[in-house]
Amino acid sequence: MAFRHETLEKNVILLLVLSLLVVTIGGMVEIIPQFFVENTIEHVKGVRPYSPLELAGRNIYIREGCYLCHSQQIRALRDEIERYGHYSLAAESMYDHPFQWGSKRIGPDLARVGGKYSNDWHYAHLRNPQSMVPESLMPRYAFLDETPLSYDRIADDLRTNIAVGVPYTKDDIANAIADVESEANPDADHAALLKRYPKAVVVSKTGPYISEMDALVAYLQMLGTLVDFADTSEEKLDR
Ligand code: HEC
Repeated sequence: MAFRHETLEKNVILLLVLSLLVVTIGGMVEIIPQFFVENTIEHVKGVRPYSPLELAGRNIYIREGCYLCHSQQIRALRDEIERYGHYSLAAESMYDHPFQWGSKRIGPDLARVGGKYSNDWHYAHLRNPQSMVPESLMPRYAFLDETPLSYDRIADDLRTNIAVGVPYTKDDIANAIADVESEANPDADHAALLKRYPKAVVVSKTGPYISEMDALVAYLQMLGTLVDFADTSEEKLDR
């Protein structure tokens, strides 16, 4: 064996050919199975694409850099679960392009903030965080209230998401603008909206127009609410 290895080491061409062979086999073993798995993320009941208003709110979340202070990723560690709720599932961010897991927590994790407070709390908190949490160092976002949401091209946003694999339907696209308006109007008929986007939270616009703040609150209020964990008994985490 040692003798044969010496031949190999002394013959550069042979060494090169055999090394390439080894790398090729290794590469194939790693790459080929990828073509046969349909999806690396397990589907979980309840997870759906964002409603157009939530999507608009999410864009504002990204534009304002909320992710610089907030994560959206509850790790499977006891202290995090006790504080924030069930640990995040991969499926819960499968329609996030780009994902908002974040890398820093100057403020708390927001992965399950939906439903934790009332809409009014969020409006008041975003306008002036110190009014709700006196020691807060979160900046004020009152200007979002005064900025009308621009949503005339929201359907394009849905189409862009389709291009990266989010399963919006023709129906979703045709109704995108109507869905924005319905979700921001408590007096509207929400049957169609809720059929397309179950659990969407209706916000009541505070001004004469739908503001960026309305969209952001609709987004915050649905975070982490789609999966019903009471459903899944195997999810108990005992450590
Ligand atoms: C400079 C860091 C910083 C930025 C930027 C920031 N936050 Fe915060 N946020 C905090 C801190 C600190 C808290 C905890 C104190 C409080 O509730 O105000 C907090 C709390 C929150 C809460 C309440 C969470 C809970 O479970 O009580 C929400 C919701 C929230 N932020 C949303 C946002 C949104 C939306 C944005 C972007 C528009 C944003 N934050 C930007 C620091 C930040």
